[in-house]
Amino acid sequence: MSHETRTSDDLDQIRDEAVGRAREATSTDALETLRVELLGKKGRVTDLMKTLGGLAPEARKARGAALNALKDEIARAIEAKAAALAEAELDRRLEAERIDVTLPPRPLTEGRIHPISQTIDEMVAIFGEMGFKVAEGPDIEEDFYNFTALNIPPEHPARQSHDTFYLKGKEGEKAPKVLRTHTSPVQVRTMLAEKPPIRIIVPGRTYRSDHDATHSPNFYQIEGLVIDRTTHMGHLKGCLNEFARAFFDLPELPVRFRPSYFPFTEPSAEMDIGCSRAGGELKIGAGGDWLEILGCGMVHPKVLANCGIDPDEYQGFAFGMGIERVAMLKYGIPDLRTFYEADLRWLRHYGFLALDVPTLSGGLSR
Ligand code: PHE
Repeated sequence: MSHETRTSDDLDQIRDEAVGRAREATSTDALETLRVELLGKKGRVTDLMKTLGGLAPEARKARGAALNALKDEIARAIEAKAAALAEAELDRRLEAERIDVTLPPRPLTEGRIHPISQTIDEMVAIFGEMGFKVAEGPDIEEDFYNFTALNIPPEHPARQSHDTFYLKGKEGEKAPKVLRTHTSPVQVRTMLAEKPPIRIIVPGRTYRSDHDATHSPNFYQIEGLVIDRTTHMGHLKGCLNEFARAFFDLPELPVRFRPSYFPFTEPSAEMDIGCSRAGGELKIGAGGDWLEILGCGMVHPKVLANCGIDPDEYQGFAFGMGIERVAMLKYGIPDLRTFYEADLRWLRHYGFLALDVPTLSGGLSR
C-alpha cells in the first residue's frame, strides 16, 4: 500500500465518520461539537493541515487539495443538517403554537348608561348647541354660596322650605357648611370668577332632607345662567321653549310661563308643558292639562351685585330643573326611588347603550 493511498483512506475514513455523525445529529449542539472536533482550531482536520509544511512540494499540493475538499465536504454536511434541524424545529413550533381561530369568542357583558346620565348628556347636547358650556361646583357648599349670595339671608323663610342638611361646624366657624340644596350656588361661583358674557349649564347632585315616592334626599338638578348686556325675558322664553321641544322631541309642544317667586330672580316664573291625563294616562304634548317642569327668572339685581357684577350694566336669566322629574316624564319611569336602587334588571330595561351618544342631529335617544 503506497503512502498516497494510505493517506487517502485515512481521509475517507474521517469523511465517512464525520458525514455519518452529522446526518445522525439530533441537535444543533451536537453539530457544533462535531464542527469543533474536526474543523475547530484544534480539530482533527486542522491538525492534519498543520502537517502539510513537512511534505515535499508535489505531495503537499495533492494532500492540501484533498484536505480542503474534505474540509468543505464536512462543512457542507454540517450545514445541511443544521438547516434540516431548523426547519424541523419551525414545523414543530408551527404545530404546537397554532391558534384555533374557530374558537367562539368569550361573550362581553354590555353595560348600560343610567337614565340620569343619559338625560344630562341630552341636555348638554341641546344647550351645548345653543352655546352654553358646562360648569360644576362642590356638593358640600358654604352657606354664602347656597343662600346668602342668592339673596336668601339667614332669617329668610326660603331657608325653611329647602330642608337643608347642615354639616357639623368647626369651632369659630361663622355658619355651618351645607349639602347644597340646589345647583344655584354655581351661578354665584361662576359670576364671581368670570366676566360676562356668561352662558353656563350646571348639571349636578343636590340634597334635601326629604324622602317619599316623589322626593329623594339626594337628587339631580341642572341649572342654567345667561348674563350679558341686553339679555331679557324674551331670550329666557325662547331658550327654554327651544329646549323643551328638543328634549321631548315634540316640535309643537305647548309651553306656558306662570308667575312665581324665587328670592334670586325677579320676575320669577315656572314653566309648564302641555299634557293630557285622560283615562289616568299621562301624555305629553296633547290635551289641555299642564305639568310644571322648571323654575326660572331674571337674575335679581341684588344677586348680580353680590357677585361683583354691575346690575346697571348687565342682566340675564337663570333656570333650574329637576333631572329625575323630566327623565321620568320623558321615559315613562313611574317611581323616583328606583333611580337609586342599582337594580340591574331596572337598568337593563330603562338604561341606554353606551355608544348611542346623544346629539341633536343624530337623535337624542333611541
Ligand atoms: N334653585 C331653584 C330651586 O331649586 C330653581 C331655580 C333656579 C329657579 C334658577 C330660578 C332660577 O328650586
